[in-house]
Amino acid sequence: MDKRPIGIFDSGMGGVSLLRDARLLLPKENFIFYGDNKNAPYGDRTEEEILSLTSAAADYLVEHGVKALVLACNTATSASINILRRKLAVPVVSIEPAIKPACERAGEGKVFMLATAATTRLARYRALLERMPDPSRVINIGLSGMVARVERGETEIGAYDDILNEYLEPYFGETADAIVLGCTHYVFAGEAIREYFLRHFKGECRLFDGNRATARQLGRVLERNGLLNPGGCGKVVFTTSGEPEKLAPIFDRFLNTPLD
Ligand code: DGL
Repeated sequence: MDKRPIGIFDSGMGGVSLLRDARLLLPKENFIFYGDNKNAPYGDRTEEEILSLTSAAADYLVEHGVKALVLACNTATSASINILRRKLAVPVVSIEPAIKPACERAGEGKVFMLATAATTRLARYRALLERMPDPSRVINIGLSGMVARVERGETEIGAYDDILNEYLEPYFGETADAIVLGCTHYVFAGEAIREYFLRHFKGECRLFDGNRATARQLGRVLERNGLLNPGGCGKVVFTTSGEPEKLAPIFDRFLNTPLD
C-alpha cells in the first residue's frame, strides 16, 4: 500500500477531464493536480518550449512526492514523453489522441481529429497516424484559440462556432463518423463541438477521447509496480502556476461535471 499521491499534469484545466476518469476508476487514490495555467496554451508554442515547460512541471510534481505521473495533455506528451520517461524515477503514463478506437469503430466516413496545432504537427502524432489502416480517412485539424476559452470555463453550445468555422468550413457536408477530441481541454467543449458537427456535417459525429483508456493504463501501471493504495481516502489537491482563487472554482466545476 503506497499512500503517496499520483501527479496529474496539464497546461491548464483540460487535464481535469482525465482526473475525473482516474478518480472514478481509482477512488481510493490521492491525487495532486498541477495546471500550468500561467503558461497555457501550450499548443501554439514550439516543441522546445513545450518540452521545457513540461519538464519543469514534472519536476514540481516529483518534488511534491508523487508515486506516478500522468501527462493529461496530448501536446505535452507529443513533445516530451520519451525524454521524461528516461529522466524520471517514477512511472509516467500519458494520453494520446484516440484515433485508433475512432478508426476501428467508426463507419466508412471521415474521422475528424481535433487537437492543438503542436500535437497535429509533431512527429509522435504523425507516427501514430501512419499506423492506422487508412490514414487518409483522418482529417487533422490543429486548432488555435479553443483552449483559452475552455480555461475561462466557457462550455455552452455555440461558444466555439467562430473558431470552428475558420477551420471546418471547407469540409461542410462531409460524413463525419467520428470526432476525436485530441486535446483534453476539448472534452469540456465536447457537447458544443458535437452540436456544431451535427449542424454542418452528415454522419453519426460520435465523440472519442483518450481519457478512459489512459486512466485504465494508470491503474495497470500502479498495480504492476506495487503502487496501489486500496485503503486511501481519495484526496484531491489542486495546484496551479496561475491565479488559484480565480481558477479553483473552475477546477471544482469541471471536476464535478458528470461523466457520460
Ligand atoms: N490540454 C492540452 C492537450 O491535451 C493542451 C492545451 C494547450 O494548448 O495548452 O493537448
